[in-house]
Amino acid sequence: MCGIIGIVGTSDVGPRLLESLRRLEYRGYDSAGIAGVTSSGLARRRAPGKIRALEEVDAADPLKAAVGIGHTRWATHGPPTEANAHPHRAGRVMLVHNGIIENYAELKAELAARGRAFESDTDTEVVAALLDETLETEADPVKAFQSVVGRLHGAYSLAVLVDGHPDLMLGARRGSPLVVGWGDGEMFLGSDALAVGPFTQRITYLEDGDSVVIDHASARIFDEANRPVERPMVTVPASAALVEKGNYRHFMEKEIHEQPESCQRTLSAFANPVSGQTTVPGGLNFAEVERIQIIACGTAFYAGEIGRYAFEKLAGLPCDVEVASEFRYRQPALTKGTLALAVSQSGETADTLAGLTWCKAQGFKTACLVNVHTSSMAREAEIVWPTWAGPEIGVASTKAFTAQVSALLALAVAAARQRGRIDAAEETRLVARLFEAPGLIAQAVADHSEAMTAVAHDLAGARDVLFLGRGAMFPLAMEGALKLKEISYIHAEGYAAGELKHGPIALIDEATPVVVLAPPDEVFEKTVSNVQEVAARGAEVILITSQDAKVPHAPGLRRIVAPDCDPFIAPLVYAVPVQLLAYLTAVQKGTDVDQPRNLAKSVTVE
Ligand code: F6R
Repeated sequence: MCGIIGIVGTSDVGPRLLESLRRLEYRGYDSAGIAGVTSSGLARRRAPGKIRALEEVDAADPLKAAVGIGHTRWATHGPPTEANAHPHRAGRVMLVHNGIIENYAELKAELAARGRAFESDTDTEVVAALLDETLETEADPVKAFQSVVGRLHGAYSLAVLVDGHPDLMLGARRGSPLVVGWGDGEMFLGSDALAVGPFTQRITYLEDGDSVVIDHASARIFDEANRPVERPMVTVPASAALVEKGNYRHFMEKEIHEQPESCQRTLSAFANPVSGQTTVPGGLNFAEVERIQIIACGTAFYAGEIGRYAFEKLAGLPCDVEVASEFRYRQPALTKGTLALAVSQSGETADTLAGLTWCKAQGFKTACLVNVHTSSMAREAEIVWPTWAGPEIGVASTKAFTAQVSALLALAVAAARQRGRIDAAEETRLVARLFEAPGLIAQAVADHSEAMTAVAHDLAGARDVLFLGRGAMFPLAMEGALKLKEISYIHAEGYAAGELKHGPIALIDEATPVVVLAPPDEVFEKTVSNVQEVAARGAEVILITSQDAKVPHAPGLRRIVAPDCDPFIAPLVYAVPVQLLAYLTAVQKGTDVDQPRNLAKSVTVE
């Protein structure tokens, strides 16, 4: 969602606010703004659109301030106009916000009844107005801020400046993350470690309900009852700050190329290629688990679906997967012995986090598979399973997805072994297959073949595209459709290949390309029959399969060759051509690959 940076320094912070916002742009790019305490009081620069637009505004009249806040917005309340851009100002208060103030309408009506006027449609401005009003009777900005925060419902992280207090910044969080960064003679607030990454690696993660008061040298933290508390300072790896594109055209391209390494690193957390054994971090014994309930959104949900095939087939462990936005509100009837497993790149997705919290409150064992190891989910779950994809900046998830799938496949092997479904020799065989994946992914990544580019060229002209697969290729087909639609804006759907005749086949015509994911596995022949069915109806079929797979001739059929692999790891290997197709199609169309319209990287509102 929105990105926040705050710096309490001793010299001009304007350029660094902009630098941080550039790194945070992946969190939202509808508008951006910076503000600071200048020699003539509070001042701000704002612009609708991307950071580039804000940079132009600032270049014309640079903000000169030693204390400042910055924000990049993913619009929730009100369109992406300058008036709705953060920072929001009310009298002596200037602030930025990530999240949603659920009771803003009620607060706004109350303030309006007392004569307050508003400039924007946002929920955020109400917080600024309420604080400004409170400061009329409570001169201590910390006390005034804490009393205002006590009135807010919903999710928020806030960074606040108060006129007349040039060495002070206030912050608070509930439901949305906020970190404190410790510099040398200067202090920072940020919506995540990346925000402050260019300036410091020393971070304190605030807990839910915390508020914080910083000056240029220190931070005072208070819990939700406003009692002073200590929160640990941690040193985040420098890699968290490494968010450069290097020689790649887009972060998505770079992240597709990073997958051999991210897959290898993730697998190494769950299995040992030398001993051939799996391990379960956190010490869980799957023999004591009766059912797994995976909760996730979007791409993480499809990774969860691939995990389900493996847990059930290999380990005989019942597994359900549900999108978190449905799960959290339908009061699911989970049975005793269920392990609730949240799968999430960010570890901050509001619905997934709420689902996890609900399961914990019901007394179920909880685990999370997260790429941000210090995220809210990591702090909420009893067991934290890490993926090691590194920071993912491209809004369309790629390496985080394959890292999730790597971990889930390895966990399924561990579960199978612990539950006595496979012996040590089979465990060793499967672990060996898993560790073949990074090399095969590298091979698939290297295949920017002409065939692939030509197919992407044709897909770019399509209005609709279907993706088909069977078994674990079915969720991958859905993931392929999601990737294509989110970055190229082409309508795409993924179907179970066998389901085609039950309706979707009516969509098939010459103008609807069909991408079929068909590794040579036990259902290959059946998938090939489905290929014949669509080809017979005039569709252009793009078949992703191995070099040696025997496919009968069909008119309009084109083959994209994927590396030969064991069917167990096919979801990892076949993910690559699926991602590359979407990527190359988007490049062909000239869309904004890393920051597609209407999206944000981390969805911290429901
Ligand atoms: C799509 C994509 C999203 C995320 C979803 C969940 O490419 O990235 O569908 O997978 O918003 O996000 P996390 O994994 O952070 O919970």
